[in-house]
Amino acid sequence: MDPGELIDPKVKETLRPKLGKEFYDETAGYASVVRMGLNENMVVDSGFASMLLEEAAKRTDPRRYPAPKGACAIKAISEGIGVWEDEVVVGNGADEILDIICKVYVGSGEAIVAEPTFEMYRFYIGLGRGSARTSMLTKDFGLDVEGILASITDETKVIFICSPNNPTGKQFSKDDILKVVEESDRLVVVDEAYSDFAPYSLCRESTRYQNMLVLRTFSKAFGLAGLRLGYAVSTNETTCWLRAAQSPFNVNAVAQEMARLVLENNKIYEEYVKKTIEERAYLKAELDDVNGIEAFESDANFILFRVLSKDLRSADVVARLKGAGFEVRDRGALPMLENCIRVTVSTRQNNMRFAGELVKALRG
Ligand SMILES: Cc1ncc(COP(=O)(O)O)c(C=O)c1O
Repeated sequence: MDPGELIDPKVKETLRPKLGKEFYDETAGYASVVRMGLNENMVVDSGFASMLLEEAAKRTDPRRYPAPKGACAIKAISEGIGVWEDEVVVGNGADEILDIICKVYVGSGEAIVAEPTFEMYRFYIGLGRGSARTSMLTKDFGLDVEGILASITDETKVIFICSPNNPTGKQFSKDDILKVVEESDRLVVVDEAYSDFAPYSLCRESTRYQNMLVLRTFSKAFGLAGLRLGYAVSTNETTCWLRAAQSPFNVNAVAQEMARLVLENNKIYEEYVKKTIEERAYLKAELDDVNGIEAFESDANFILFRVLSKDLRSADVVARLKGAGFEVRDRGALPMLENCIRVTVSTRQNNMRFAGELVKALRG
């Protein structure tokens, strides 16, 4: 008997046994390629990050379970951003919080996803046995507010909006997002994984609306992707159900200490963000000079560009770049994004070398 046959068909449809494997080349390890495909933050100085990590390790006793449900990190975050502890949920990456939102709020109901966007919303909706309903962005990658509102059905529980949107890059207008919140009467999840690199954040607003939740992560601006730490801000009425659904010891002790340390050093991280924004402008200018592509504006730490030639597929360009030692994400299979590639803003040296290799990859 194949135990696989016991799996709910709806869940099986969603499961991707190889999910994530493409990000790690087991034979070569991490060192062999320049990773510009996962929006990690290499602008953060590795020496500084290591120093804080050593300090976090010193303050931690690995024999003991961590503070339950990220309580230490919650305290640091609530002080850092100026909201009540009750209004914060901490997760093993923002991913864990998305998973729990889908389990608790979407369940076997429906969620609307403003697409093209981060693929994990659909994944967690399906895993929780729910259905995803697509509302496409406007032609210029804006939020189609009327389209979203018109897509709502009796089964709609949650609306997912990613702003700045991954992979298109722009932050949506504040008014548009708040209009969806005010007029939808559903839980609106605003994923602000990249908002540190953008003009504004709705983090504080989310405690003023009963039906709004803002999701943030330490993986991007704080360069802690390897520690897995994310959080959500909402009213206590929403966060209490999410916390109730989490495993008691979901976030490890070192990550919780690191939350405290990086927030204490916020001024230094603000400088890294400033530098990333400068590097984004540099990379965008380099891409604008490359013949045969169109690069889109970005408010995040990545840039989306389209390969314009009809004879060249984005997948081939990505493969050639990989051959030259640069890993980027092919986004060409997503709706509206035919022949598009997403590249992470990295250090000056990497950005400069990438632009040179891209020119060669486009020539073949
Ligand atoms: C839009 C968006 N949301 C959430 C996440 C997940 O963040 P974390 O690393 O905290 O799980 C990512 C990661 O790339 C992302 O791009």
